[in-house]
Amino acid sequence: MFQNIDLEKYDVTGQVPVEETEKQYYYMAKARGHVQNLAAELGRRPTCCVTTFGCQMNARDSEKLVGILELVGYEITEDENADFVIYNTCTVRDNANQKVYGRLGVLQNYKKKNPHMKIALCGCMMQEPSVIEKIKKSYRFVDLIFGTHNIFKFAELLCGLFENEGMLIDIWEDTDKIVEDLPVERKFPFKSGINIMFGCNNFCSYCIVPYVRGRERSRNPKDIIREIEKLVADGVVEIMLLGQNVNSYGKNLEEPMSFAQLLQEIEKIEGLQRIRFMTSHPKDLSDELIQVMKNSKKICKHLHLPVQAGSTKILTGMNRRYTKEQYLELALKIRREIPDIAITTDIIVGFPGETLEDVQETIDVIEKVQYDNAFTFIYSKRTGTPAAAMENQVPEEIVKEGFDKVLKCVQETARKQVSKYEGMVMDALVEEINEHDSSLVTGRLSNNTIVHFPGDASLIGKIVDVKLEECHGFYYMGHRV
Ligand code: SAH
Ligand code: SF4
Ligand code: F3S
Repeated sequence: MFQNIDLEKYDVTGQVPVEETEKQYYYMAKARGHVQNLAAELGRRPTCCVTTFGCQMNARDSEKLVGILELVGYEITEDENADFVIYNTCTVRDNANQKVYGRLGVLQNYKKKNPHMKIALCGCMMQEPSVIEKIKKSYRFVDLIFGTHNIFKFAELLCGLFENEGMLIDIWEDTDKIVEDLPVERKFPFKSGINIMFGCNNFCSYCIVPYVRGRERSRNPKDIIREIEKLVADGVVEIMLLGQNVNSYGKNLEEPMSFAQLLQEIEKIEGLQRIRFMTSHPKDLSDELIQVMKNSKKICKHLHLPVQAGSTKILTGMNRRYTKEQYLELALKIRREIPDIAITTDIIVGFPGETLEDVQETIDVIEKVQYDNAFTFIYSKRTGTPAAAMENQVPEEIVKEGFDKVLKCVQETARKQVSKYEGMVMDALVEEINEHDSSLVTGRLSNNTIVHFPGDASLIGKIVDVKLEECHGFYYMGHRV
C-alpha cells in the first residue's frame, strides 16, 4: 500500500515539508538516493533483513519498516548476513531480551567480514534506559537505535544513518502522535493486521508494555476504515484488528465510539470476509460486543480472553481488576451466547505470592471454561514494574511444579475442544502449502484451528469448505467438499 507513490516529485535539495507524512516521503526520496549510491559502490542492490521478536504489534511495525525499505531500494532477504539488519525487539519476558543479546554476537561476526554492514535495533526493548546503557557500553558496533514511538520517522533516521558516523540513538519517552498513510509491505497478500489503537493504560502489575508502548491512543475510525478498504481492494480477505486492549477502543476519541460500534462499521466493508481482533481485556468486554459477535457474519468464532490467573488474591495483586467469579461468569456467558466460539487465553504461573493452592484455582478455571488453546508463561520479573518490587517472589521449583500442572490441564482441554468438530464441514482460509507435504495446503478455520488437506498454490488466499476428517491433537486432516 502506498508503494506506488511517486518519490520523484520530492525535491531533496529543497525545503523539508512540515506535514509529517509528506516529510517522511521527502526523506524516503532522499534515502533512495543514498541506497542508489551504495548500490553503485557495491555493484549490486544492497540487501536488508528485518527480524521480528514479540507480538503481532511488532509484526505489524516490521511490515511498516519493510514497506519503507523496499520503497527506498533495498532487496529484502531472510538472511541476517545482509548489508542492513534490523532487530525489532520485545521485552515482555526476560528470555525475549536474552535472545536479542545472543544474536547480536552473531551479527558482530558478520559485520567484521562486511564493513558496509549496518545494524539497527528498535522496538520495545529500546524503550528501557538500562538496555540503551548496556548497548552503548558492550555493543558498540550497533549503528542505529530507535524506539516504539518514533518508528514513523524511520526514513528520516535512515538518512541520518547514511549522513553521520557513529551510533545514532533516537528514543522518545511517549507520544500522542499517530502518523497515517506511510508505506507498508504485507507478509501475506490475503490477510493483514491493522492497528486500531496504540499503547496501554492498564498497568497490570507484572507487565512492562505500558512503560514501553506509552499511553493508550485510538486511531480515528475513518482512518481505520479507509485503510481496510484499501487492503480489501488489494486482495485482503481477513483482517486482525490490533490493540493491547481492544475493548477500550475509542474512549479517548473526540467523538467517542465503542469497539462494538467500530466492528459494525468494519462489517459493512464489501469484499472483506473475516474479522479477527486481539486482545480483549475481560474487565472491559461488554454485552454489546457479545451481541455484535453473535450476530456478525464476518467476525471469526474466536475470542482470546487472557485470564492470567485463577485465584482472586493473585488477580488483585496483578491489578487485573476482575475476580475469578467475574471472569468465569463472563466466559460462561460467552459460551452460552455463542456456543461454537473458541475461547483461548494467556496464563502466568509464578506471580509473587502464588501458592500451589492458587495454581489449583487456575486449573479450576481451565476446567470450567474448557479453553480451546492457552499460552502458558512462567512469570518473568520486569524491572520497574510494581510486581518486581514485591517481596514474596516464588521459588523456581514451586513455579515449575505449578507450570507443569497447568500445561497438562490446558493440553487436555484443548485436545477435547478442538476434536469437537470432527466429521463436520467448515470454511477454511488457505494460507500456505503444507510445510512437510507439498501435495497438501494448510488452512485456518474461523475458530483459529488449522486444517491440512489436498490442494495446490492456486487455493492460497481463498476460503473453501473443508470436511474435518481426522483430529490429530491440535489440528485436523481433511478434504475439500
Ligand atoms: N495486552 C494483552 C497482553 C500483552 S502481553 C492482554 O492484556 O491480554 C502478552 C502476554 O504476555 C500477557 O497476556 C501475559 O500472559 C504475558 N506476560 C506479560 N508480562 C509478563 C511477565 N512479566 N511474565 C510472564 N508473562 C508475562
Ligand atoms: Fe500488559 Fe495488562 Fe496492558 Fe495487557 S492489559 S499490555 S497485560 S498492562
Ligand atoms: Fe513484546 Fe512489545 Fe509486544 S514488549 S509482546 S513486542 S508490545
